[in-house]
Amino acid sequence: MSNTLRLGVNIDHVATIRNARGGVHPDPVHAAKLAEKAGADGITAHLREDRRHISDGDIERLMDSLELPLNLEMAATDEMLMIALRHGPHAACIVPEKREERTTEGGLDVAGGFKALEPVVKALKDKGIRVSLFVEPDPKQLEASAKLGADIVELHTGRYCELEGDDRANELKRIIDAAQSTDDLGLECHAGHGLTFDTVMPVAAIPNVMELNIGHFLIGEAIFSGLDSAIRRMRSLMDKARTDARGERSA
Ligand code: PXP
Repeated sequence: MSNTLRLGVNIDHVATIRNARGGVHPDPVHAAKLAEKAGADGITAHLREDRRHISDGDIERLMDSLELPLNLEMAATDEMLMIALRHGPHAACIVPEKREERTTEGGLDVAGGFKALEPVVKALKDKGIRVSLFVEPDPKQLEASAKLGADIVELHTGRYCELEGDDRANELKRIIDAAQSTDDLGLECHAGHGLTFDTVMPVAAIPNVMELNIGHFLIGEAIFSGLDSAIRRMRSLMDKARTDARGERSA
């Protein structure tokens, strides 16, 4: 197992700020290019049904101009499937989506929605798009994801980030256990949601986790220190966590 940990930068909230005024500034594609220079390994964008941040045009421009792989977050709807198949991003991460939610709340119910997800996963895979499923660190969901033929599971770190003290430690343990089980299930393990400078290291230290997807905090932090600096600092915390964990394991 390689110990490389990739950073996927989610640029949705650059588009949120742009859309607040309805113009073209700040441009999420420009942010994606800056992210690449700052050390991002991939770009993530969520095309929501209500287009509240990223637009169809953004996806088109990202596909045309990005050197980095694009991870398209999408709901498992016919409309989003058509868009993904048309653009052929490197990966598609299927997320649950409710119109009234502020952000993706909770993971995808892969076990409960197995039949409906089956044709979506198959169509994406047939097109050569890597399929990721955004799930809670729950064995039932991981087993269903493997059975469905997903390539990747992205573990939802939102609860871990929101909780404190023992509750946070317990949630971290669930994430560690889930990540460990992905090897046997033949799934690549990613993680993300709500991660900050304060919460990233324990997740980055989990050896099975291959990629973290981080957005809101980085874009918010960019207001104070700039996007380049925010991404570089996150990258260095991730790398430090990984190096420290490797040292502890071999000691
Ligand atoms: N991963 C997934 C599947 C998400 O839906 C999101 C939010 O769009 C993220 C990661 C990034 O979360 P945050 O913006 O809180 O860093």
